[in-house]
Amino acid sequence: MPGSAPSPAAGDEPPSRSAASASAIVAGAVTGYHVLRIVGYSCTKEVPTGQRIDSRHFRVGGRTWFVVYHPNGSAADNADFISLFLALHGTAAEAVKAQVTISLLDQDGNPVPSYSFTTEYVNFSEKGSWGYPKFIERQALEKSEHLRDDCFTVRFDVTVMKNVHTVEEPFVVVPPSDMHRHFGDLLSCKEGADVKFRVGRKTFSAHRLVLSARSPVFKAELYGSMKESTTSSVIRIDDMKAEVFDALLTFIYTDTLPAMKEQDESAMAQHLLVAADSILALAEQHNCHGLKDACFAFLSSSSALDAVMETDGFEYLTVSCPRVLKELMSKLVPR
Ligand SMILES: *[C@@H]1O[C@H](CO)[C@@H](O)[C@H](O)[C@H]1NC(C)=O
Ligand SMILES: *[C@@H]1O[C@H](CO)[C@@H](O)[C@H](O)[C@H]1NC(C)=O
Repeated sequence: MPGSAPSPAAGDEPPSRSAASASAIVAGAVTGYHVLRIVGYSCTKEVPTGQRIDSRHFRVGGRTWFVVYHPNGSAADNADFISLFLALHGTAAEAVKAQVTISLLDQDGNPVPSYSFTTEYVNFSEKGSWGYPKFIERQALEKSEHLRDDCFTVRFDVTVMKNVHTVEEPFVVVPPSDMHRHFGDLLSCKEGADVKFRVGRKTFSAHRLVLSARSPVFKAELYGSMKESTTSSVIRIDDMKAEVFDALLTFIYTDTLPAMKEQDESAMAQHLLVAADSILALAEQHNCHGLKDACFAFLSSSSALDAVMETDGFEYLTVSCPRVLKELMSKLVPR
């Protein structure tokens, strides 16, 4: 049965060392854990029954905690046992409701299931401490392989109910990512741009590195077999409206679409789909064989082919690249 530790005995110096201590926020509660290594267990046994050794302090859920260790039991009726408790440091005006799992760790640092116990939620401002007066029988520990080189380890997993703590979190508030904004600025100010696209009557400047990092098609086009022919000249894109290409660039740089009227949005989404669809034509025009093969592999599933045949892009393909259509047919029709 769990219970609270008897009141402290003064003047006990902790011989134990505290190890990792961490906390994380989860919904509705704050969890953290503290790993306590008891080094020189046989010496701690000299501490009389009822007396305690306190661990270093650690923080979880905005509260300060420590472990109370009774090597020779917390009272006469558990003198054969090791008692372990979690204790709240200081006093709290409001309720501090927390739950603790106390686990003996094996040599690999994993909890030993037969010595891993979880308490109910307890109001620590009322109880002060809570845990297990009969955590493990000293004989059982001494016979086990979990005591090695006169040393054993226990872990305290603490879950503090969030609605009960009103003190500030010991976390830094990180502002949301503004990377997309910086990339958007890069696109609009054209600084360091090293490639130009001519779409309809408009010319767009962009950055080869950004485009190829974001799109394998651009990577193939700008750094693949067609690299030479695109280093100096302006790349012409014939099959796209300027505003669609503008949206495509904005999407590539910022993961968002440019601001537009709601009714224009679905039309733009369709245009972008068509733009993506003409990738196969692009691959053909620019000798990207790997990309073309990937397109063929995709099209050889009949459902994909049906869907693609209904698009404007397919219409475009039949007009602009009849050769690729022949190639496609020869791949699809079994001989
Ligand atoms: C520890 O507990 C045992 C009973 O298990 C008792 O005989 C012994 O005197 C205690 N040791 C100390 C130092 O109090
Ligand atoms: C928790 O304990 C504190 C101190 O004894 C008390 O003031 C408070 O009402 C208790 N809260 C709950 C929810 O039990």
